[in-house]
Amino acid sequence: MEVSLRPVSRSNVRAVCGLRLADDQRQLVAPAAYTVAEGHYEPGALLRAIYVDDEPVGVLLVEVESGTPYLVRFMVDAAHQRRGVGRQAVELLVGELGADGWGVLETSFVRVAEGAEGFWRRCGFEDTGRTRDGEPLFVRAL
Ligand SMILES: CC(C)(COP(=O)(O)OP(=O)(O)OC[C@H]1O[C@@H](n2cnc3c(N)ncnc32)[C@H](O)[C@@H]1OP(=O)(O)O)[C@@H](O)C(=O)NCCC(=O)NCCS
Repeated sequence: MEVSLRPVSRSNVRAVCGLRLADDQRQLVAPAAYTVAEGHYEPGALLRAIYVDDEPVGVLLVEVESGTPYLVRFMVDAAHQRRGVGRQAVELLVGELGADGWGVLETSFVRVAEGAEGFWRRCGFEDTGRTRDGEPLFVRAL
């Protein structure tokens, strides 16, 4: 299994927009199609499809406008979760942002049981003690 981050393009946009979460995860993150659309209107944003081999299985969006990269969306399709795809995608993203000269990556999430907090902690993010849009703000050095 090879995980990679690739641009969203006309050849994969339908597949990316069709990515799905489990029913009980839908309150945690906006639908993939919103992420793709919003990515086009965020100045300087980094929008990437997460691939396993040649199949798009996830999507992520990083905003940089505030001067600190902020991972505003991150999802792995329900059928591909818990196989290490998310962790590898985070490592690839960290490498890409670090190579671009950024020093930290922030993210936030809906704090509920079975939410993503454990995932972010496993990926090396720490609680800043601050919030963003009412959600706990976590950070990782790059
Ligand atoms: C959260 C999410 C991105 C994780 O992706 P994934 O590919 O399933 O995660 P991985 O398999 O790479 O997991 C890496 C580690 O995190 C752990 N983990 C994954 N999801 C977790 C969760 N919801 N709670 C606690 N730990 C979790 C895994 O068990 C694994 O731990 P390990 O170190 O013991 O092996 C994915 O489940 C998802 O898209 N969820 C719904 C949307 C969401 O909440 N996105 C985040 C919004 S900020």
